[in-house]
Amino acid sequence: MKALLEPAIRRALRELYDLNLDSVELIPTKKGFEGDITFPVFFLAKTLRKPPAAIAAEVGDKLKELLPDTVGGYNVAGGFLNISLSPEFYTRFLREQTKRPGYGIRRPDPSLPGVMVEYSSPNTNKPLHLGHIRNSLLGYAVSAIIEATGKPVIRTQIINDRGIHISKSMVAWKKFGEGETPESSGIKGDHLVGKYYVEFDKQYRKEVKELAAQGMDEETAKREAPIMREAREMLKKWENGDPETLALWKMMNDWVLEGFRETYRELGVRFDTEYFESDTYLLGKKIVEEGLRKGIFYRKEDGSVWVDLSDEGLDEKLLLRADGTSVYITQDLGTAVKRFEEFDIDTLIYVVGSEQDYHFKVLFSILKKLGYPWADRLYHLSYGMVHLPEGKMKSREGTVVDADDLLQKMYDTARKISEELGKTEGFPPQEKEKIYKIIGKAALKYHLLKVDPRKDILFDPKKSIDFNGNTGPFLQYAYVRIRSLLHKAGDWQAEFAVPEQWDEKEKDLLKQIIQFPDIIRNAADTLNPAVVANYLYQLVKTYNSFYQALPVLQAPDSDTRARRLALSAVTGDVIKNGLALLGIEVPERM
Ligand code: ARG
Repeated sequence: MKALLEPAIRRALRELYDLNLDSVELIPTKKGFEGDITFPVFFLAKTLRKPPAAIAAEVGDKLKELLPDTVGGYNVAGGFLNISLSPEFYTRFLREQTKRPGYGIRRPDPSLPGVMVEYSSPNTNKPLHLGHIRNSLLGYAVSAIIEATGKPVIRTQIINDRGIHISKSMVAWKKFGEGETPESSGIKGDHLVGKYYVEFDKQYRKEVKELAAQGMDEETAKREAPIMREAREMLKKWENGDPETLALWKMMNDWVLEGFRETYRELGVRFDTEYFESDTYLLGKKIVEEGLRKGIFYRKEDGSVWVDLSDEGLDEKLLLRADGTSVYITQDLGTAVKRFEEFDIDTLIYVVGSEQDYHFKVLFSILKKLGYPWADRLYHLSYGMVHLPEGKMKSREGTVVDADDLLQKMYDTARKISEELGKTEGFPPQEKEKIYKIIGKAALKYHLLKVDPRKDILFDPKKSIDFNGNTGPFLQYAYVRIRSLLHKAGDWQAEFAVPEQWDEKEKDLLKQIIQFPDIIRNAADTLNPAVVANYLYQLVKTYNSFYQALPVLQAPDSDTRARRLALSAVTGDVIKNGLALLGIEVPERM
C-alpha cells in the first residue's frame, strides 16, 4: 500500500505546493477511524503556513484526481488524512494476485550493486553448535529477505582454518589418534576433529596440574605445559610451510569441512562463495604494512604493530604480534578488502554473536581510517545467546549443544508429537519421515527467528512444535488447511464482480496481505527476520478468524465463493513465500 501511495502523495505535494520530498511517512489508519492508510500532515503546516486540516483536504482531493481507480475516498481528522482505497482497487488487486502468485517477492536485479552477507563462519577445530544454528538461520533469512527487495545477495562465510585452535587438534591426533579417520571410526569428520580438541584439553589440564604441584605458578605452567609448547611449535611449522604439517592440517581440515557441509545441507543453508583464513591472513599482513607506510599504524619497540583508536573511545589494538604472526583481526582486514575487490557489492553484513561487538567496532573503524570508500557500508548483525532449559540436552563434547544432535532431537520430537496427535496416520512411512523433518526444522527455525536478533533466547524443543501457538508448525498447518480447502473447491476461477461492500473480515485479511512488501522492506532495512515471522503469525490469526466467521465453500453466491477462495489462495501463497524467507518449507499435508 505504501509503495503504491507514496509516489502519488509526493507527486500531489509537488503539484500542489511545489514541494519536493524524498519520502513521506504513511501509517496504518488508527482503529475506530474510517480509512485504510493515513498520511499525517502536521509536519507541513509550518512550511506551508496553512492549518493541517486544510492541507489534508487538498492532498485528499488531489489523490482522488491522480488515482481515480484506487482512492475511493478520504476523511480528515485533525492533521491526519485517512485514505480509503476503493472496492474496485481491492477487487482488482485480489484478482491479479490470485492469477500471479509470488506477491511481494521481487527478483534480484543484476544491474544493482549487491549485498554480501557473511554468516556461520566456524573455526575448524570442532563441530557446529547451537550458536552456529542461530547464526546460520539469521544469515540465511536476512539474505533471502534482502534478495526479495530486488537486490542481488552473495552469501558467504569465512572459515577460520588456521591458528592455534586447529594446531591443538592436530597435536592431539598425532599423539593419541593411532591413525583414526572418519572412515575407520565411523565418526563424522567434524566430530572426530572435535574429539581430539577435547583430548588436547584433557591432557593440557593434567600437565598444568602436575607442573603446579611441582611448585610452578599457574601462568607459567599454562604457558610451559609440554603439549601447549607442541601446539605452538606446530603452528610455527605450519607458518613456515613444513610439508608434513601442511599435509596433516589439510587432511584434518578436509574432514571438518565435509562434516560442516553435511550439517549445512541438513539445515538447508548454503553459500555462494567461501573464504579461508589460510588464504586471507597474508593479505591482512600486507594491509598492515600499508597502514604503517601511511602512518596510521605504528610499531612498538618489540616489533609488534598497533593502531590507536582512543580518539573514538576505543583503545589501542594489536594488529601483528612481535614475532610477526597475525591475530584474529589481521585476517578480517584482508578478507574485507578482497571481498570488495572480487564482487560488485556496496554493502557487507557480518552475522556474528554479540560477544564480538568490540571486534567489529575496531575493524570498521580501522578500515575507515585506511580510507576505503565502502567502509561506512559495513554492518555487524549482532545476536544474543540461545539457552536450553536446564537438563534438556547434553552434548557429546560437554559444554555446548551440538548442531547435529539438536536437529535429530527436533525430528524425534516432531515424530512423537505428530504420532500422539494421530496426524500422520495412514501416510506412507517415507512421506512420514520427510514430514517430521520439515516440521522439526520449521519448529527450530521459527522459534529462533521470531525473536529480535539482539535478544537472548530460551529454546524448548517441545514447546516449539506446539501446533497451536506462535510456532512454525502452527503456520505450516494453516497453509496445509488452505491447500486442502482449495483442493475441495475443485475447479474455480478468480473471477468475481466488485462487491457492493467488502465484509469487514475479508477486508481485514486483504489489507494485511497487501502489507507484505512493506513488511519485507522493513525487515530488510532493520536486518530483522522477526518482523516477517510476527507478520505471518498475525496474518494466520486474521485468516483463522475470517474462516471461522464466513462460509467459503458454502458461500451464499458464486461471486462471494470465488472471492473467498481467492482470499484463501493468496493468503496461502503469502504464508508459503513468507516462510521461505525464513528458510522454512511447507509440506502439502501434515
Ligand atoms: N570463526 C570466528 C569464531 O568462531 C567467527 C568469525 C566471524 N567472522 C569474521 N569475519 N570475523 O569466533
